[in-house]
Amino acid sequence: MRVFLGISGASGAAYGARGLSALTRAGCKVGLCISESGLKVIAHELFGLGADPTEGREVLIERFVNEYAESPGEVTVLGLQELTAPFASGSSLAPAAVIMPCSGSTLGAIAHGAGRNLIHRCADVMLKERRTLVLVPRETPLSPIYLENLLTLSRAGATILPAMPGLYNHPTSVEDMIDFIVGKALDTIGVEHDLMRRWGTDG
Ligand SMILES: Cc1cc2nc3c(=O)[nH]c(=O)nc-3n(C[C@H](O)[C@H](O)[C@H](O)COP(=O)(O)O)c2cc1C
Repeated sequence: MRVFLGISGASGAAYGARGLSALTRAGCKVGLCISESGLKVIAHELFGLGADPTEGREVLIERFVNEYAESPGEVTVLGLQELTAPFASGSSLAPAAVIMPCSGSTLGAIAHGAGRNLIHRCADVMLKERRTLVLVPRETPLSPIYLENLLTLSRAGATILPAMPGLYNHPTSVEDMIDFIVGKALDTIGVEHDLMRRWGTDG
């Protein structure tokens, strides 16, 4: 299965990293696109380089893919302005896109059809083609503008999957909490995984 994974600049780069791991482990071919702010958050939260790293974009993305993809060869890194990529067209038949984490800015651009980059365009395509779009927003508290954008996108067909891990399965680590959300995202797009224990089961 081909999946577009967009990573924008909300806190929670680990959701994107874990998503890349799980998708590649499941055998998906991943088109990966990271916004400028998304890369700053990756550098800060995952690599401990601060939010203004001196390393260049290509170096950071290569490190991200090599550290988190189970099979880096299955990952196609897409430029943020690469609007000629297949994912930018409804004719490409990619069935699903996940934007994880999804910033308020990216949310607003998609909700208002005001896309400026490939992440926004790919989301647009999923909505117009009535395919699966999962958005994993992270912000708190939420302004009325943000809430209205969420409602607009839900009504347009996106699955809004906030980074709000449940505690009912007794997570013992941050990783467990991250996996809860990533597992829900993979459930939504129909990719098998064993990231979380399901209610009512032992495993
Ligand atoms: C370290 C860091 C953490 C951030 N956390 C959030 C966040 O949790 N949610 C959010 O909506 N924006 C957050 N931002 C702000 C966005 O990165 C900013 O609005 C940016 O313009 C988003 O651009 P993008 O949507 O193209 O990635 C954060 C920025 C930085 C540097």
